[in-house]
Amino acid sequence: MYLTQEEERVCDGESGWANQTCMKILVRLGELFGADKLIPIASAHVSGVSYKTLGDAPIEFLRALADNDARVKVRTTLNPQSLDSQYLVKRLPKHLREPQLDILKQFEKMGLTQSLTCTPYYLQKPKRGSHHAWAESSAVVYANSVLGAWTNREGGPSALAAAIIGKTPDYGVHKMENRQPNVTVKVETTLRNETELGALGILLGKTLGNRIPAIQGLPKTSKDDLKQVCAALGTTGMTNMFHVNTRPKSKGTEKISIDRQQIKHTIGELSTASTSKPDLVFLGCPHCSLNEVKRIAQLVEGKRVRTGTEFWVCTSCHVRRMAGDCVKRIERAGGHVLDGVCTVVSWTEELGIKRIMTNSAKTAYYAPTLNKAEPLLAPLQDCLKAALQG
Ligand code: F3S
Repeated sequence: MYLTQEEERVCDGESGWANQTCMKILVRLGELFGADKLIPIASAHVSGVSYKTLGDAPIEFLRALADNDARVKVRTTLNPQSLDSQYLVKRLPKHLREPQLDILKQFEKMGLTQSLTCTPYYLQKPKRGSHHAWAESSAVVYANSVLGAWTNREGGPSALAAAIIGKTPDYGVHKMENRQPNVTVKVETTLRNETELGALGILLGKTLGNRIPAIQGLPKTSKDDLKQVCAALGTTGMTNMFHVNTRPKSKGTEKISIDRQQIKHTIGELSTASTSKPDLVFLGCPHCSLNEVKRIAQLVEGKRVRTGTEFWVCTSCHVRRMAGDCVKRIERAGGHVLDGVCTVVSWTEELGIKRIMTNSAKTAYYAPTLNKAEPLLAPLQDCLKAALQG
C-alpha cells in the first residue's frame, strides 16, 4: 500500500507510540482488503463502548492510547453505553457502573464527543459522497443507503484508529465500482409496518452475504422505517448498503423474491416468548429520531404504563434535549426516556427482565443471547398496547 512520506514517518513511530499503533492498524487493514492508499475522512463513529460487551481487557488498551496522547483528528462520535446517567445508573451496582465510567473517561481524553448514540446522523448529517469511518452496522447501512455518505463497516478499533489518524484505507464502498447493486430483490408482498421492514432486513442479511441488493417493490417508506431495514440487514449479514427501486446495471444478475410467508416466518422466529406479557417494552433500536419520540408522546398521552412493566424509549441526549415536552409526557405516563444507552448492551438481566417486547427486529434477534431474555416482536401500536393500561 502506498504511504505518503508523512504517513511513513507516523508508521515509523516519529509521532509517538499511539499514532504509530493506529497507523499500523490502518495499514494492516488496508493490506488485507487490497487498498492502495489511505484517504481522508470527514468523521468517525466508534462502537465498543458498553462495558457489558467490551469487558476489562480493552480498557487497558484505551487507557494506553489516551495516556500516550492519542487525540482524534476528525469529529468522532461514540456508540451507546450500558447505562444512562439518570435511571439505570441508580439501579445498577458499583462494579458495573465504575468500569463503564472509566471507559467514557478514556474516550473523552482522546477527544471523542460523548454523543453515545447509534444514530450519529441526527446530530450532524454527513454530506452525500463524503467519506467516513463508522462502526455500528445499522448506522453504516443507513449512511450509505439513505444518506448517500460513504463508509465501510469498521470495527471499534479500526474506527478509533481512523479517528486518530484522520484517514481510512481506500477499499470497499469507498470506491464507486463497489457501490453498485449486484442482486435484485423483488418484494412480492406489501410490508405494512416497521416490524415487517425489519423482518425483510433480517431475511436479506441471511441470504445476501455481502452482496448489494436493488430492492424493488418496497412501499413508500419513511426514513424512520427504513432505519429498521438498515439495522436488521446489518445484524445478520455483511451487506453495507442497498438501493431502493433501482435496477442493477449489468444484465443477468440473480433475482430473489420475498413473499408474505417468508416475512411471517421470520417474525415468528424472532418472537419466541412463551407468554405475551413482557417485563420490558422497549422502543428505540436504533435510537429514536425526534419524530419518533413525538409520535410516542402523542400515543401515550393520558395513559399509564402497566404496574410491573418497564417502558423504555431510547434515544441520544441531543434528541432528548430537543424533544423537551414530549419527554415529560412519556415520563408522566410512567415511561422512561433513556439517553446514551442501548438496551441490547445494557444489564437488563440484572434488573430481572426476562421478556422484552420491541418493534425492532435487531433487538429481537439479539435479546436471547445478549439479554438472556425471550423476545416479542411487534409493531409500535401493539408494543404500546402491551405497555399501557386499559
Ligand atoms: Fe442501537 Fe443498540 Fe439497536 S446500538 S441499533 S439500540 S442494538
